[in-house]
Amino acid sequence: MTTTAIIVAAGSGSRFKSDTPKQFLEINGKPVIVHTIERFQSAPSVDSIVIVLAADQTLDTSEFPKVLKEVTGGATRAESVRNGFEAAEGADIVAVHDGARPLVTVDEIERTIAKAKETGAACLVAPVTDTIKSIRGDEIADTLDRAKLRRALTPQAFRSEVLRRAFDGIDLTESVTDECFLVEKLGHPIAIVEGSSRNIKITHPEDLVLAEALLSAETRY
Ligand code: C5P
Repeated sequence: MTTTAIIVAAGSGSRFKSDTPKQFLEINGKPVIVHTIERFQSAPSVDSIVIVLAADQTLDTSEFPKVLKEVTGGATRAESVRNGFEAAEGADIVAVHDGARPLVTVDEIERTIAKAKETGAACLVAPVTDTIKSIRGDEIADTLDRAKLRRALTPQAFRSEVLRRAFDGIDLTESVTDECFLVEKLGHPIAIVEGSSRNIKITHPEDLVLAEALLSAETRY
């Protein structure tokens, strides 16, 4: 079975409030996106990589032999994933990953892909450590049982035909924030793969400081 990783890095990073999109800011001397690609390049079960970039971005990927194609993203994350998916034709398994998650480990990538090969759909998740409330207006409505909650991380990996059906005829608005959401709507079960809360998504400036500290403390990925 061939596996293609789709790494989406076409966001403008409006929440980050920087002229440079967050995935191109440097941590420990390298752009965030380069750290991310390194990990997929090192994952034995990843055969090829498709990078999705904004129309005005370029990236030198010559040091990464697995990078097959660079394609242009869309207006939403889901559109960017779909553009990457079109370029991943022929793959049996696709693993979708946020370019802004440079701390994913090779072990997390391998376990998620292995689970998708076995079940058709797999999502890397992390535990919820805070107590989570649902709200109604400006009041607390309910307390959710955190033992039953997980945060959806990436990679999320699927058999290609499952993701193909999930994308069929769907309006890819901002509210589609991950691919599992689309696969859930198909009614296809999605296996969870327990991951680490270290696999943060660089979203706000303080995340960059945290990512730098976590990277410096790593002995290997
Ligand atoms: O929007 P969010 O911060 O959740 O983005 C997650 C990932 O999706 C980032 O790596 C970002 O670059 C990517 N993205 C994209 N195309 C968009 C919006 C986000 O590739 N239109």
